[in-house]
Amino acid sequence: MLEVSDLHVSYGQSEVIHGVNFEAKKNETLAIMGRNGMGKTTLFKSLIGVLGSGKGSIKIDGTDVTNKESYERVANGIAYVPQGRMIFPTLTVQENIETGMGVSGIKEVPEDIYALFPVLLEMRHRKGGNLSGGQQQQLAIARALVTNPKVLLLDEPTEGIQPSIIKDIANILNEIKSLRDITIIVSEQVLSFTMAIADRLIVIDKGNFIHEDLREDVDTQQISKYLSV
Ligand SMILES: Nc1ncnc2c1ncn2[C@@H]1O[C@H](COP(=O)(O)OP(=O)(O)OP(=O)(O)O)[C@@H](O)[C@H]1O
Ligand SMILES: [Mg+2]
Repeated sequence: MLEVSDLHVSYGQSEVIHGVNFEAKKNETLAIMGRNGMGKTTLFKSLIGVLGSGKGSIKIDGTDVTNKESYERVANGIAYVPQGRMIFPTLTVQENIETGMGVSGIKEVPEDIYALFPVLLEMRHRKGGNLSGGQQQQLAIARALVTNPKVLLLDEPTEGIQPSIIKDIANILNEIKSLRDITIIVSEQVLSFTMAIADRLIVIDKGNFIHEDLREDVDTQQISKYLSV
């Protein structure tokens, strides 16, 4: 569903992603794990097209999107939940979700979105900025889902969220996966969270992939070592 080959990403002269290769299959959840500053956000921004890539290719469901703008990539089936959520604080919950609906042509927030996130239905007229961090994360996921993505990217969705709410987010992502044909790619540092959702884990270190395991083969102590400073 997503195929990335030899992807290099730089800021000016400084290369941060050094030629990564990976695929994610339909109905697979893939976790990219790495410490602060290892290149997770840079990788995700280049996948969604906010950052250009110097070299390499990105395909979504067989379509090469490497030279396409972000909005065209979204139309091709990729959606992005940025690190820090980036919801619009002065818009209501409903208006925030509606900002994601432009490309899909739908007029009203679909019922299945509010079924997944009952708290957003309850709070739909409240300003986004007045939601808790966990609720804002749900809002950011809802906004991404209304484009009906084939590939959903989430950049550190548990950052700054308390453990009980992290469990809720894991449950929601597993429910989304059971309800839709979707590929979920998440960047993370919290191993317990990815062990609850991911089929496969990749470790990124200084812009290179250095380790990969299916969930059932994961040695959690070894991965924790990669994640500790
Ligand atoms: N706009 C930028 N200009 C130059 N260098 C940048 C820029 N953004 C990030 N970097 C550098 O790129 C490297 C990777 O950063 P990135 O934000 O991708 O890491 P990350 O894995 O997402 O970290 P975190 O877990 O803290 O979010 C870091 O060395 C960072 O300093
Ligand atoms: Mg980041």
